[in-house]
Amino acid sequence: MPRYAAGGTLSGVGMADDYTIPQHWDHYTAQDHAVWKTLFERQTALLPGLACAEFVEGMRQLPMAADRIPNFDELNATLKPTTGWQVVAVPGLVPDEVFFEHLANRRFPSGNFIRGAHQLDYLEEPDVFHDVFGHVPMLMHPVMADFIQLYGEAGLRAQRIGKLTELARVYWYTVEFGLLQEAQGMRLYGAGIASSFTESVFSVQSPSPNRIAFDLERVMRTNYRIDDFQESYFVLNSLDDLLELARIDFDPIYARLNDGVSHPPRRILEGDVVLHNGTHAYSQQP
Ligand SMILES: [Fe+2]
Repeated sequence: MPRYAAGGTLSGVGMADDYTIPQHWDHYTAQDHAVWKTLFERQTALLPGLACAEFVEGMRQLPMAADRIPNFDELNATLKPTTGWQVVAVPGLVPDEVFFEHLANRRFPSGNFIRGAHQLDYLEEPDVFHDVFGHVPMLMHPVMADFIQLYGEAGLRAQRIGKLTELARVYWYTVEFGLLQEAQGMRLYGAGIASSFTESVFSVQSPSPNRIAFDLERVMRTNYRIDDFQESYFVLNSLDDLLELARIDFDPIYARLNDGVSHPPRRILEGDVVLHNGTHAYSQQP
């Protein structure tokens, strides 16, 4: 399963059936806050010109700053009245069903730990920087708020009918690695790239990857990289396109997907609206 989504099994003392735990904000060390500060400062310096307007606006409204890891209660005091979402702490990756159940109820599970100072650009599982810095600004936007809730509901159903692999690609290429077109150019909105020092620049500016207009069924047939930068990014015309996606009846698409055809991440297909044909110079490096 994708490292930014869900999967794996955990058990722990004090954990509820839904895998939530207290954030234990007062347990963070000075070192933890210092890692947050380093990540926050370098990423906020980088994102102007890369992040979409909705991300920047969400960030502006939230009580999130460089000096300390956000307290989820304080975040929720702004987030919940805005879109009905709240952040809940979990100890790491949670099983798919638990993840979807949270999303369907407008609870975003966030790792309560932070990566070590020696692994700023390495993420084995989503930590509080990825989950909060990457995801929460977009949860302030009503379209993303509705889309992720509906994705949670769709996920529960896809799991029952054996279509999770295909549906997870939608989340991957939107919520985690999505780009959208703005008047000034392409911008990122996906949390996996918004929270990555190197991939935020790569996704928007590098000539290496493909950038292809988003097409739902095409995306549901496209594999992705979990171990490196993406070789293709899919681009929305506007964030509102996500709401149309969420209203689509997936049954006819699932029926067509029964043919089992899927595509490697790099391949350009006949019928693609190619916004940038990647050189793939990056992925061809030894
Ligand atoms: Fe994520």
